[in-house]
Amino acid sequence: MALSGNAIRVLFILVILCVAAHGKAAEKKEKKEEKGGKDKEADAEGPAAEGPSSGGGELDISKSGKCKGDGKADCTEALEEAWASACKGTGKQTIQIPKGDYLTGPLNFTGPCTGDVTIQLDGNLLGSTDMALYKSNWIEIMRVENLVISGKGTLDGQGPKVWSKNACAKKYDCKILPNSLVLDFITNGTISGITLLNAKFFHMNVFQCKGVTIEDVTVTAPGDSPNTDGIHIGDSSGITITGTTIGVGDDCISIGPGSTKINITGVTCGPGHGISIGSLGRYKDEKDVTDINVKDCTLKKATNGLRIKSYQSAESSLTASEIHYENVNMEDVANPIIIDMNYCPNKICPAKGSSHVTIKDVTFKNITGTSSTPEAVSLLCSDKLPCSGVELNDVKVEYSGKNNKTMAVCKNAKGTAKGCLEALACL
Ligand SMILES: *[C@@H]1O[C@H](CO)[C@@H](O)[C@H](O)[C@H]1NC(C)=O
Ligand SMILES: *[C@@H]1O[C@H](CO)[C@@H](O)[C@H](O)[C@H]1NC(C)=O
Ligand SMILES: *[C@@H]1O[C@H](CO)[C@@H](O)[C@H](O)[C@H]1NC(C)=O
Ligand SMILES: *[C@@H]1O[C@H](CO)[C@@H](O)[C@H](O)[C@H]1NC(C)=O
Ligand SMILES: *[C@@H]1O[C@H](CO)[C@@H](O)[C@H](O)[C@H]1NC(C)=O
Repeated sequence: MALSGNAIRVLFILVILCVAAHGKAAEKKEKKEEKGGKDKEADAEGPAAEGPSSGGGELDISKSGKCKGDGKADCTEALEEAWASACKGTGKQTIQIPKGDYLTGPLNFTGPCTGDVTIQLDGNLLGSTDMALYKSNWIEIMRVENLVISGKGTLDGQGPKVWSKNACAKKYDCKILPNSLVLDFITNGTISGITLLNAKFFHMNVFQCKGVTIEDVTVTAPGDSPNTDGIHIGDSSGITITGTTIGVGDDCISIGPGSTKINITGVTCGPGHGISIGSLGRYKDEKDVTDINVKDCTLKKATNGLRIKSYQSAESSLTASEIHYENVNMEDVANPIIIDMNYCPNKICPAKGSSHVTIKDVTFKNITGTSSTPEAVSLLCSDKLPCSGVELNDVKVEYSGKNNKTMAVCKNAKGTAKGCLEALACL
């Protein structure tokens, strides 16, 4: 019997529901893969692959009949269907999300796709606060080439309703809440113009991607919201973040293990925990971090400015090198420059050991502005593995308070300093 397009679609939805119902086993598998950074199984052919194909086209989710844009009707199905259809179409395929509020549960946008998919986000997607719906993340886009997400719309994670369920400050192996926008195995993509608001956990997680540009994006959550990192990058290369404003409750940008060729320019961060490399060494088999360039950025009232953090009791041996910071202005930042090889948030790390992380060839050039504490520069490296090739050039950060001045603390750090405020030239 030949199935009609509609019947196939119904089958596809049933499959999705079944997958959701059997999510527990999948969850364990996913977790392991995410931590180990292992390649996930490619699975291109879903039942939808046989549906009608179209050569280039536009899909407006507000016209699907299933989704009203009133912030109440559940638009998950309409969006999943739009993705399935766009992904199997040829040429440039655009999913239009026009002005309006669209409530959705988890969205699984998996490729590979036949053509190139653009998501034109002009409305607001609201992440459901029904936690039973989530296996891991909210919007997860996987194995897509030439992905574009653009527009003036917002991805609103509705975090304030669930942040109280985050126990990560108390428990080392806590259950993590859903990240808002997750890009896995994306080759060549652009995310531009959109706003990410109040994620339940990280706002954006970039994992095993190559050639992705994030530009003119705004990320916003309260300074005291838990683990609401702005953009986390791991196991990726050729990532550019530019012209982006981030104010969150954790790192504005964090660059995890396996990251290479990362350029960050024209980023404003604050409130937040700064632009961080790390944490490094927490899990087994972490890969090196190298060729990281942070230029023309501003940090405002952040708890850290430029930070490299590694666990003292690191599980894996890796090297972080060729890290260059240039033309960065600090406004009232608590720790403008900090390398911390004794990192242990909330003091709940496993038993002490010695670090297996090597940090070398790190340059700070033309770092200006103000520090809200006297300790503007802290280079706290390990006695077993000192930091080497650290250069401080023209580091001129002044204390913003009264009756004191900025100072530097160096432990096991080797390198050179020139043109810095005298008290900051601790090398
Ligand atoms: C997402 O969809 C792909 C294919 O459609 C499937 O292989 C994968 O298991 C799904 N992932 C989740 C988390 O549901
Ligand atoms: C990604 O972009 C680079 C540079 O433009 C290009 O060389 C490469 O072929 C592209 N890869 C894919 C899979 O489109
Ligand atoms: C990063 O910037 C440098 C120049 O500052 C450039 O040579 C390099 O190609 C850029 N990398 C990426 C991934 O854009
Ligand atoms: C130093 O960096 C600031 C931005 O933080 C910039 O305005 C200034 O031009 C830079 N100075 C030099 C000499 O490059
Ligand atoms: C200046 O700051 C340092 C470091 O916090 C502190 O130890 C010292 O007591 C301060 N000096 C004054 C005069 O407050």
